[in-house]
Amino acid sequence: MLEQEKATLKSGGNSKILTYLDGDGDFRSDECVELLKQSDVVTTNPPFSLFREYIAQLMEYDKKFVIIAPDTALHYKEVFKLIKDNKLWLGYGRAKQFMQPDNTMKKFGNIGWVTNLDTTKRHEFLTLYKKYSPEEYPRYDNFNGIDVKKTAEIPYDYDGCMGVPDAFLDKFNPDQFEIVGIPFGDLGKTLGVTRNYRGRTDVSITKNGKTNCPYSRIVIKRKGLK
Ligand SMILES: C[S@@+](CC[C@H](N)C(=O)[O-])C[C@H]1O[C@@H](n2cnc3c(N)ncnc32)[C@H](O)[C@@H]1O
Repeated sequence: MLEQEKATLKSGGNSKILTYLDGDGDFRSDECVELLKQSDVVTTNPPFSLFREYIAQLMEYDKKFVIIAPDTALHYKEVFKLIKDNKLWLGYGRAKQFMQPDNTMKKFGNIGWVTNLDTTKRHEFLTLYKKYSPEEYPRYDNFNGIDVKKTAEIPYDYDGCMGVPDAFLDKFNPDQFEIVGIPFGDLGKTLGVTRNYRGRTDVSITKNGKTNCPYSRIVIKRKGLK
């Protein structure tokens, strides 16, 4: 058994404990679960195909974490619920490239840090400067809300539901906004989005006789309204 084979490495003034595993390292194995239980903070780049299961395990063991997630995972209903309930949020920056064992770099798009460690940015208030007007903020055809194309253009005086791009999550301050849901597919159905011109529960907008669906949206509301 290699359990005792712990090497203390010195690098840059930090000491690290390296623990060799007996098993195959599956995060669901008894051995890994035991190590998880002993940990204070988990940081890793988990298998994306098992992301739901991985995050469920971190929640089950009530662990603090800073992990890499693909952007698509933010829309999984299990992960989105954690964002909505303020149990998971975006960390700082994006993971753009990794150094591989052969010292070559591998570039990635669409992955970033998610965490449940507090950050200062999630307490920063976004300065809202745009006034609402029906001309600039079209109403959805099949949901009671308006479309906001850019996070920076969220109007300061609109009290109802607003569909904003995913980039909003990087600016999300739970004291300023409430996350309502995702207005697409099955999640859209639960929000009350009715079928659009394509027969789907995705929000659509009709402007100058043309109908289309925005690429991706999250529905939010301003908080603290009297
Ligand atoms: C997104 S990659 C990250 C790779 C590695 N962290 C790196 O930076 O090179 C996910 C890694 O999880 C591993 N993996 C797949 N299924 C796993 C499982 N059930 N338990 C633990 N690791 C798993 C994959 O082999 C892969 O190396």
